[in-house]
Amino acid sequence: MDTVVSGIRSTGNLHLGNYFGAIRNFLKMQKENNCFFFIADYHALTTHPKPEDLHGNIKQVLAEYLACGIDPEIATVFIQSDVPEVSELYLLLNMNAYVGELERTASFKEKIRQQPDNINAGLLTYPVLMAADIIIHKAHKVPVGKDQEQHLEMTRHFARRFNMMYEVKYFPEPDAYNFGEELTKIPGLDGTGKMGKSEGNGVFLSDTPQEIRKKVMRAVTDTGPTKPGMAPSEPVKNLFTIMSMVSDPQTVDFFREKHASCEIRYGDMKKQLAEDIILFTEPIRNRIMDILANNKYLSRVVSEGAEKARASASRTVREVREIIGYRSF
Ligand code: TRP
Repeated sequence: MDTVVSGIRSTGNLHLGNYFGAIRNFLKMQKENNCFFFIADYHALTTHPKPEDLHGNIKQVLAEYLACGIDPEIATVFIQSDVPEVSELYLLLNMNAYVGELERTASFKEKIRQQPDNINAGLLTYPVLMAADIIIHKAHKVPVGKDQEQHLEMTRHFARRFNMMYEVKYFPEPDAYNFGEELTKIPGLDGTGKMGKSEGNGVFLSDTPQEIRKKVMRAVTDTGPTKPGMAPSEPVKNLFTIMSMVSDPQTVDFFREKHASCEIRYGDMKKQLAEDIILFTEPIRNRIMDILANNKYLSRVVSEGAEKARASASRTVREVREIIGYRSF
């Protein structure tokens, strides 16, 4: 059985991009692999959340994982900060991570632009912590969205570097993983770029039907196709991409043909899209609310998850310390 590790930062509610980029793959993988799914709440500190928000965000993402169908009886579901071993491996890996390569990481450069007043060292070493998350369980496969590809490549470098440095074949080199197709990127509703938690362009799994209708009806389009058969503009293509995730193929074809014949009414397309998103998210939203109300269940999931994750993580850290040369007296 292969080992699978993946996590999502607890910086806000999960959106359709998280679902189709990551969680959908978690669900497909959980039965046939040894899976570790966690909430990256150390990583969430890079944006300085308020103490009163941190716990609520972690709880929300946990409830959302479970509401989507991640089964804690099969997979190990845990919270990153419940496994302090990961911070020790992070420290050890930091000694073999070079500042130059960290500074060249695309996500770091993007963060410098996004939060110029808070370029903390945690942002710089974000990929090292992520590598520690993954290799601490000796993962083979990491289901993530396209935006994480470079981080995975760095994880492989760090794993290989450790193996070479100590002349061991200790860490496997994990691969980014997606079922069948290429890594998925779900666009936002604002015309360009990917759906994000903070960009204000996303549909959350916990949004009410009214919120979803409002967001989708406001989505950016264009003034309509001017020539038969022309390719849709980027904002319209993005709506088709989202539609292809949640609607039947016939519905998508119907609107594609309407677009091709210049008869499309974007208002109709958006109405249909909103209803299909609601059909998809409504059962999940109801389960999120039920689970959030059941603190006893959440607390049991968290403590059982922590125990299983720590057993695996502490074995690795013990062996790594031995390899590096820490010996007992
Ligand atoms: N960087 C990931 C994101 O922003 C979250 C993450 C942290 C992660 N550690 C991980 C994903 C380990 C996969 C494996 O979405």
